[in-house]
Amino acid sequence: MQTRNSITFLVFSLLLISPTFLSAAKTPQDLIRSSCAQARYPTLCVQTLSNQVGPTTKPLNLAQAAVNATLTHALTLSVYFNTLQSHVALGPTVSNRLRVAVSDCVEQISDSVTELNRTLNELRHLRMGTFEWQMSNAQTWASTALTNGNSCINGLNRSDAEKKMKLEVKRRVTDLSMLTSNALYLINRVSDSRNPKPHSSNSKN
Ligand SMILES: *[C@@H]1O[C@H](CO)[C@@H](O)[C@H](O)[C@H]1NC(C)=O
Ligand SMILES: *[C@@H]1O[C@H](CO)[C@@H](O)[C@H](O)[C@H]1NC(C)=O
Ligand SMILES: *[C@@H]1O[C@H](CO)[C@@H](O)[C@H](O)[C@H]1NC(C)=O
Repeated sequence: MQTRNSITFLVFSLLLISPTFLSAAKTPQDLIRSSCAQARYPTLCVQTLSNQVGPTTKPLNLAQAAVNATLTHALTLSVYFNTLQSHVALGPTVSNRLRVAVSDCVEQISDSVTELNRTLNELRHLRMGTFEWQMSNAQTWASTALTNGNSCINGLNRSDAEKKMKLEVKRRVTDLSMLTSNALYLINRVSDSRNPKPHSSNSKN
């Protein structure tokens, strides 16, 4: 009888405690959501990281995962543009402007692949003594990749391409720009987590 009462008591206690316990525990998903809240494209940010991140969700892991996903996308896009370029070059009806725009994109997206790869390598080999310098490199390269993507879209915007094809190409490059923008945001978060902004500490004083 004694044992049964104890068990009943235990089960009852757990029922009372567990809702509080569950809401207090932060799952990786919660951390991803809060990390992405201020990103330019929060929904895409959560989606990107949920597919990649394991149980560890430190700001650095999130930034690495975001850059990795962006690099993967950029590589696919680079292959796509190379294929497209040969089709565009073959098509007799294609305007010269579009030909130039696509050829610029081939170069710009290929540069983005290089820059994103450098960014990822830097984020994977951070050292205490050179942390700030390396983070600044990562920020520079990621923002150059973002600029390249936008230049490609700009060139396509100006070219009088066949509408349907232009929309499809632009959609793909826009996806890359959105991913890059989120990745850059998460890189900046790593930087900020180590170096609180001077003005924010001033405002508290
Ligand atoms: C990077 O992304 C690719 C493709 O999504 C994946 O296969 C790979 O495991 C990722 N690497 C890391 C270190 O996250
Ligand atoms: C990325 O960088 C690594 C290390 O430098 C290199 O081995 C790899 O080939 C690079 N990948 C791409 C896609 O540029
Ligand atoms: C390209 O044009 C679209 C509208 O068609 C616009 O929304 C977008 O901001 C432009 N992109 C750039 C990088 O200027």
